[in-house]
Amino acid sequence: MIWKFITFFVRKLDPEIAHKLTIKSLKFGLHPRLNQSVISIKIGDLIFKNLLGVAAGFDKNAEVINKIHFLNFGFTEVGTITPLPQYGNPKPRIFRLEKDKAIINRNGFNNLGMLEAKKKLENYRKKFPVGSDFLVGINIGPNKDSEDRFNDYKFLAENLSEYADYISINVSSPNTPNLREFQNKENLYKVIKFVKDGVAASKAFNKKLPIFLKIAPDINKQKLNSIIEIACSQKIFGMIISNTTLDRDSNLKSKKSNELGGLSGKPLFKKSTAILSEANKIIKNKNYKLFLIAAGGVTDTKTAYVKILCGAHLVQLYSSLTFEGPLVANKIINGMLKLMKRDNLNNICDIVGIVDNPKEAMNIAINGFKKSKN
Ligand SMILES: Cc1cc2nc3c(=O)[nH]c(=O)nc-3n(C[C@H](O)[C@H](O)[C@H](O)COP(=O)(O)O)c2cc1C
Repeated sequence: MIWKFITFFVRKLDPEIAHKLTIKSLKFGLHPRLNQSVISIKIGDLIFKNLLGVAAGFDKNAEVINKIHFLNFGFTEVGTITPLPQYGNPKPRIFRLEKDKAIINRNGFNNLGMLEAKKKLENYRKKFPVGSDFLVGINIGPNKDSEDRFNDYKFLAENLSEYADYISINVSSPNTPNLREFQNKENLYKVIKFVKDGVAASKAFNKKLPIFLKIAPDINKQKLNSIIEIACSQKIFGMIISNTTLDRDSNLKSKKSNELGGLSGKPLFKKSTAILSEANKIIKNKNYKLFLIAAGGVTDTKTAYVKILCGAHLVQLYSSLTFEGPLVANKIINGMLKLMKRDNLNNICDIVGIVDNPKEAMNIAINGFKKSKN
């Protein structure tokens, strides 16, 4: 009850101030301390105690990793971190679309830069070394005014890999001009190569550190196919589907829906899940080995379950923390344990990607396997 009230109060503040306050509160230990309920999953050599994580953008500077442990998430993705500190776009740059349970942001990689993040990560790893049971992904991207963006990716991988359980290559933020062009064939080959070179030159113990590509939802099937082909041929570990969208659904009710930037939250669910499902089909048909992390509009247990049915081994959220508050992961995980019981599942892996159509997946999430067959 108290957290509902606090969330309600914090939502009355300007979104960027609210976010700052949230990070401060977490730092000072003002947060719930939840008993860990677990739905663990193993992908490759990575073991996640819980399949639900915090998406990039929430803890941009790696300041509150150890606090996120308490909120019943199994992992977090810090960043996006750029080589040099960056102010980002002028404020206001985050807009809450209350009526739509959505956010538009045009932050533009505001962050304190690699050196600050490195200090925080180094400190964190003294207590929780790589391989601890709460996993940390590090999301990297170039500075807006960089003269050599490819080299930025390499520099970041070289400096930060030793602290990461996985690296996430951000080629999909809509708020850094031309960043999404890194999803094009030749650029993508080159970015991956530079990141791999960075990992190889780093002090990371594991020179085969898992690398994820975080992609945009605003791509067609052909583009998706080409990204998957490249990811596979370059032995990328997985993809995060998806970042925010530039699309605006005509059903959006909030006045702020025309603000420039990337839209996240509830209205992103349909689009990001469609791409996820499409990727899952391609990967299955071609028998590729590529793990999927789903992000986009996960608001409750059912939306998370749909993502898993449509191909995700892991699920991330950000916007729901704003709307539902710090108990959201707890609610989702406990709800999912109930759905697993209902559906007679001992291992969540048994349903990863078994449904080819998001509508059918939602039907199963709501009614269970038995009823939805009738
Ligand atoms: C305020 C805000 C800032 C974000 N910053 C980043 C970022 O720095 N890097 C990134 O890869 N994604 C960023 N994202 C995108 C999220 O990681 C996530 O992919 C997207 O919001 C969809 O998930 P959601 O609907 O649960 O919010 C940001 C999202 C929001 C709302």
